[in-house]
Amino acid sequence: MVRMELATIRKHVQCRRRLDTLGSIILLLTSLISEIVSSSSAQGLASTPPRGWNSYDSFSWIISESEFLDNAEFVANTLKPFGYEYVVVDFLWYRKRDPKASIWSPGFDLTDEWGRPVPDPVRWPSTAGGKGFGPIADKVHAMGLKFGLHVMRGISTSAIAKNTPILGAKGSPDGSGERLWRAQDIALRDRPCFWMPSCFVSVNTSSEGGKAFIESLYQQYASWKVDFIKHDCVFGAEDMSLDEIEAVSQAIVNTGRPIVYSLSPGVRATTAMGFDVHKLSHMYRVTSDDWDFWNDVQSHFDVARDFAAVGLVGASGLQEGRSWPDLDMLPLGWLTDPGAPYGPYRRCRLSSDEQKLQVTLWAISKSPLMYGGDLRNIDKATLDLITNPVMLDMNANSFGNREVHSGPAPDNEAPPVLRLVGCNETINTRWAVHQKFLGSNNEQLCWTVPDVSFSSGTRTRELNGCFEGPLSRDPCTEFLRNAKKVNVPYLHPDQARSSTKEFETLCGNYWKQWPTTYEIANKEHFVSSSKLIGETWRVTSTGQLIGTKHGLCASIQVQVNVSRIWIARGLSGNVYVAFFNLGLKPSSIAISLDSLVKDQASYSPRKQPGNIILKSGLQCVGLDVWSNKQLGILNGVLSALVPPHGAALFSLTCNYTITDI
Ligand SMILES: *[C@@H]1O[C@H](CO)[C@@H](O)[C@H](O)[C@H]1NC(C)=O
Ligand SMILES: *[C@@H]1O[C@H](CO)[C@@H](O)[C@H](O)[C@H]1NC(C)=O
Ligand SMILES: *[C@@H]1O[C@H](CO)[C@@H](O)[C@H](O)[C@H]1NC(C)=O
Repeated sequence: MVRMELATIRKHVQCRRRLDTLGSIILLLTSLISEIVSSSSAQGLASTPPRGWNSYDSFSWIISESEFLDNAEFVANTLKPFGYEYVVVDFLWYRKRDPKASIWSPGFDLTDEWGRPVPDPVRWPSTAGGKGFGPIADKVHAMGLKFGLHVMRGISTSAIAKNTPILGAKGSPDGSGERLWRAQDIALRDRPCFWMPSCFVSVNTSSEGGKAFIESLYQQYASWKVDFIKHDCVFGAEDMSLDEIEAVSQAIVNTGRPIVYSLSPGVRATTAMGFDVHKLSHMYRVTSDDWDFWNDVQSHFDVARDFAAVGLVGASGLQEGRSWPDLDMLPLGWLTDPGAPYGPYRRCRLSSDEQKLQVTLWAISKSPLMYGGDLRNIDKATLDLITNPVMLDMNANSFGNREVHSGPAPDNEAPPVLRLVGCNETINTRWAVHQKFLGSNNEQLCWTVPDVSFSSGTRTRELNGCFEGPLSRDPCTEFLRNAKKVNVPYLHPDQARSSTKEFETLCGNYWKQWPTTYEIANKEHFVSSSKLIGETWRVTSTGQLIGTKHGLCASIQVQVNVSRIWIARGLSGNVYVAFFNLGLKPSSIAISLDSLVKDQASYSPRKQPGNIILKSGLQCVGLDVWSNKQLGILNGVLSALVPPHGAALFSLTCNYTITDI
């Protein structure tokens, strides 16, 4: 059965109007494309990227029932017509709001007699008396929405401490047939959650007890009528737990309930990991947490490109569904701070251009769209941004989505970025400790990196910079203060020496939890993390700056390619084009219509590329999506002046057809 989406039909109507001027037989062909594509994708769960609201960016872990239901109501009344349907309670709904409880503290998690997490009845009054989340799910369902829960890896250390029995476990751990399975028999204490090690550890999924425990969790979630599970601490370079993902995937199937299965946190996720999990899940994070920092947004471009390039966007998913690389929630509007013990209190720090750029990338790469801000306090601009119908239609109903161009902007020098990477990947950065003035004992931490963007002939200029101030103080804070000073006079390596002494930085632990990219030119990216424990850094004799606790190295990288172009084919025969300017100056970005057309034919719903039929000179008309203005007839080229940290998005209809249906 072919089910045509309303939006698709609307598009057809718009499309017919536009095409009258160009005149052609495209209309018939485009409806055929729509039917083929939608009939192959309308089956199963997450047939389009899931969309909804998640509590983390605005409430961290402390959300209460009334705050949650208020947000759900806003989704139901305002966002549901735009396809937002999942409302998800993020982490630690079982943790008591004790003054001593924080996201790092064990011992405050409530479990039932079988060691399974249960909601804190103080924050979730409807769940009191062992009712679990069922009453909340009922309210959400009555609003016409779907209910989601965040869960952590394995088993909580609270359950291990109580050594709770395992529901439904066959046999006994020692084979005696007498002793029953308990939490301590299945807990793998040497496999803790990387980012919350004292609260959760893996369970042995090859033991009868471990299997039964996971089964018992998901039977419980299904009995609460949960529709969406965000499973954390199981995916990405630090947390990868394929055994548990497989076990949970099977447990979800065993419930018989259609549950969307989402994986997290995705720190340094690779496409190989994507291939391992796409059939077991419906979405999986491909980056660490995204917050409202420019560098968090920017760090998504390469990873989104890589996952799209290998065909993982919309690949087959769990239970006949599809799966989607997930760029994380949209931290827009009214927000709190990462892991904070307090709720929303501030506006999003991104500029309106940066927000537009973020939504454009998320939409054209077909990421799930999970809004993170407190909806009770959403402003009109943000609401307009996340409900733009063309953007949403592209996010749900386009194919062949990918980056087709990445290049430097000649007039646009991008600042270097500071990243945490595996120490074997820091080949381009030489760290050293220098005396600030000859003979002084005022030391500085400095780096040098060859700047490939300034190569001329055989000589490569080097960029270098220093953290100001004595090293006994906190170099990150000093770095912050001097953030704009990236070009300092060249320091000869002989003047530098390695340091055997260790020094503390407060921003180190922020990296440990959320390793991501930081742009030196924007000091806001070093957020205050005084609440977090420090990391100890050391410059090695080979010029690496290593965090001695997490073992990762700080690397300065020069960004070369600040201009990016993504395209996608729409279901109505249209083509979407997004221009991104990651640089600090306005930049003119262009793509020739010829290359656009060639590219369209090379990505086809069939295995064989189609032929392009073009009866007269190539022309396109279309819409500038963010300004909602019709473009005049385009000949030869599509170009736009894109603001710094900004994006432009177009939907074009051209006078060619592709014989690929
Ligand atoms: C997990 O359980 C299986 C089966 O009981 C056992 O053979 C294996 O050694 C256990 N693995 C670990 C890491 O304890
Ligand atoms: C940067 O741009 C150049 C020129 O367009 C291109 O050859 C190169 O592959 C790009 N680099 C990356 C990492 O995308
Ligand atoms: C870096 O080391 C990690 C393990 O420590 C390894 O998985 C990775 O492939 C290495 N990367 C490179 C570029 O050698």
